[in-house]
Amino acid sequence: MNILILGSGGREHALAWKIAASPLTEKLYCAPGNAGIAKEAECVAIDVADHSAVIAFCQSAKVDLVVVGPEVPLCAGIVDDLEKAGIAAFGPGKWAARLEGSKGFTKDLCKANNIPTAAYERFKGAAAAKEYVRKHGAPIVVKEDGLAAGKGVVVAATIEEAEAAIDMMFDGGLGKPAWEIVIEDCLVGEEASFFALCDGDTAIALASAQDHKRVGDGDKGPNTGGMGAYSPAPIMTAEMNQRVMDEIIHPTVRAMKAMGAPFKGVLFAGLMITKDGPQLIEYNVRFGDPETQVLMLRLMSDIVPALMAARDGQLKNFDLRWYPDAALTVVMAAKGYPGSYDKGTLIEGLDVAAQTEGVEIFHAGTMTKNGDDVFANGGRVLNVCARGKFVREAQQRAYAAVDKIKWPSGFCRRDIGWQAIAREK
Ligand code: AMP
Ligand code: GLY
Repeated sequence: MNILILGSGGREHALAWKIAASPLTEKLYCAPGNAGIAKEAECVAIDVADHSAVIAFCQSAKVDLVVVGPEVPLCAGIVDDLEKAGIAAFGPGKWAARLEGSKGFTKDLCKANNIPTAAYERFKGAAAAKEYVRKHGAPIVVKEDGLAAGKGVVVAATIEEAEAAIDMMFDGGLGKPAWEIVIEDCLVGEEASFFALCDGDTAIALASAQDHKRVGDGDKGPNTGGMGAYSPAPIMTAEMNQRVMDEIIHPTVRAMKAMGAPFKGVLFAGLMITKDGPQLIEYNVRFGDPETQVLMLRLMSDIVPALMAARDGQLKNFDLRWYPDAALTVVMAAKGYPGSYDKGTLIEGLDVAAQTEGVEIFHAGTMTKNGDDVFANGGRVLNVCARGKFVREAQQRAYAAVDKIKWPSGFCRRDIGWQAIAREK
């Protein structure tokens, strides 16, 4: 098969690495890709927002399957457009992608189907929103309704902070003025990332994972897209997995089908595991980044038949096998991230680092110049991943590789996996 991946991050590099290893893959393309992906796939400079350009490329290159990485093209309906043109695509259509594209939509769906999630209210104006906050008290969580590249959530410790967040969102602080916000109760517990492969009807859970969202050691500082991840997540026991499937994933898949927007693709539930059980924080309609990097290292089965089965509605009798080993990834980011940072700084030592036992390096924001020299080209730049018998061993290997990378303009957290390792002791 000829396969095209859309996207350019560490998630897409991990997917490319796994898809390239499939005996079913004849030719692999990625648009636009990055310096690491270029070793697994032919990178093509197409603007993913231009759906007719993507379709034209698929027709000329005889692409049999398109795998969409990020949420923006999914919410823009690229899967619908590809399928309309007769090209098979993995991922949800535009209506099903509302699970990520509109927080209000998802909260209402949860309420209507008894899916556990924080109590909430939707607001179209600042005055009513502030009144609600004053009545409810803090801590409280303020969220912009639409896609906001991970920046649309403020966990406010005080009423003043919540009011400032409300003004910021309605005043266009996240790009354009919010048309609606959601205000919800603050959940207390441990977070986990839960992934289910869905075919519109059937959902099967992938291996469990946790990521570290805060920029600094000890989970301090501002939120980021994710500074590291590991799998398995010790908090996700078999019993907890089953509860998540029964209480959250299956009811969602049923509800989406019933409203004529069947969900196909990867349903990614951000969970809070509270003392009363799992609560849905939010849905994403795609693979997680950097969780996918560790999941791909642990996936024993060929991923291509799984993606096809999800797209074809054939997951019913499907099974995925996983290596029992743990996997962990450390994100190396440009100094300044998640604020402003420099691009174009030189990274050396990648080949030596990649030879560390159990290590695989996936590129996120990189580019090559002058032949093979690798330069930083984004905020999150590298994912240094490793397998190990336990999370602790995977962590040791990943940091051994990190220490061989010469990139004075980069940084990483030094404590990825601490929660899991504390439980392993
Ligand atoms: P989201 O973009 O919805 O995943 O939110 C980003 C982060 O904000 C989550 O990973 C949580 O750490 C935090 N968060 C969001 N909603 C809540 C909530 N209701 N209670 C506590 N923390 C939350
Ligand atoms: N790691 C969280 C995300 O992909 O949104």
